[in-house]
Amino acid sequence: MKRSVNFSFHNMVRIPEPELMEDPTQVESYASADFESAHSFLIRKFQDRLPQRFTPESVLDLGCGPGDMSSRLYSQFPMANFTFLDGSEFMLNFCKKRIGTLLPKKRNNKIEFKKELIQDFVPESSYDLIFSNSLLHHLHDPFEFWAAVQRSIHQDSFIFISDLMRPDSFASAHQLIKRYANEESEVLKKDFYNSLLAAYRIEEVKEMLEIVRLDTKLNLEPITDRHWICYSKQRH
Ligand SMILES: C[S@@+](CC[C@H](N)C(=O)[O-])C[C@H]1O[C@@H](n2cnc3c(N)ncnc32)[C@H](O)[C@@H]1O
Repeated sequence: MKRSVNFSFHNMVRIPEPELMEDPTQVESYASADFESAHSFLIRKFQDRLPQRFTPESVLDLGCGPGDMSSRLYSQFPMANFTFLDGSEFMLNFCKKRIGTLLPKKRNNKIEFKKELIQDFVPESSYDLIFSNSLLHHLHDPFEFWAAVQRSIHQDSFIFISDLMRPDSFASAHQLIKRYANEESEVLKKDFYNSLLAAYRIEEVKEMLEIVRLDTKLNLEPITDRHWICYSKQRH
């Protein structure tokens, strides 16, 4: 199957950024950034799209980073078994600490932290819920992301993926930084800017889904001026 997509037909070509976030200054500024408004909004969208009474026994968080989203997910399904995966040890340590503060003394569920590239991740068994926020744009070959998702699901899994979308121009990218990150540190602003330039446009994600034949299973929608979400269609 041909797996290349022409990502240059849009106004502004994609400028990839390094996959892993391993630079201590970058990790620390990301871990201490105020994502409350963006992340609580995304989590609300996730909750709105979940099938009613969906209670996963197993949850996979791909590219969990320092765990702000992961802790929100964990709080929603505290009885589930969780796998938090990130290729950056530094990031994963932040996530471990954050989740650690939420864990009760006695629990029966399994909480795993995996320092692994998603390219190498082969799950022992499939997950009921696959979640990923803001990872896809890091990947140089986006099909490695979709392949990891496909390796991790069963027929009834619920998939929820969200990420940034690339603006039309450098000027629009600068405007977004001003609008949403003006009070943040210079390191975080630079990181956000680079992420916007590395992000895939929604048309590109649509094309990926068609190529990997997930377009019949997943809905894809823009939800803000800089985010899209992609989630399992309800089965009737
Ligand atoms: C922008 S952060 C997002 C973190 C978190 N999901 C959130 O919503 O805040 C992206 C994370 O993906 C990780 N990452 C990037 N490429 C990866 C890969 N190939 N395999 C595993 N993790 C990767 C980075 O190290 C980083 O922690």
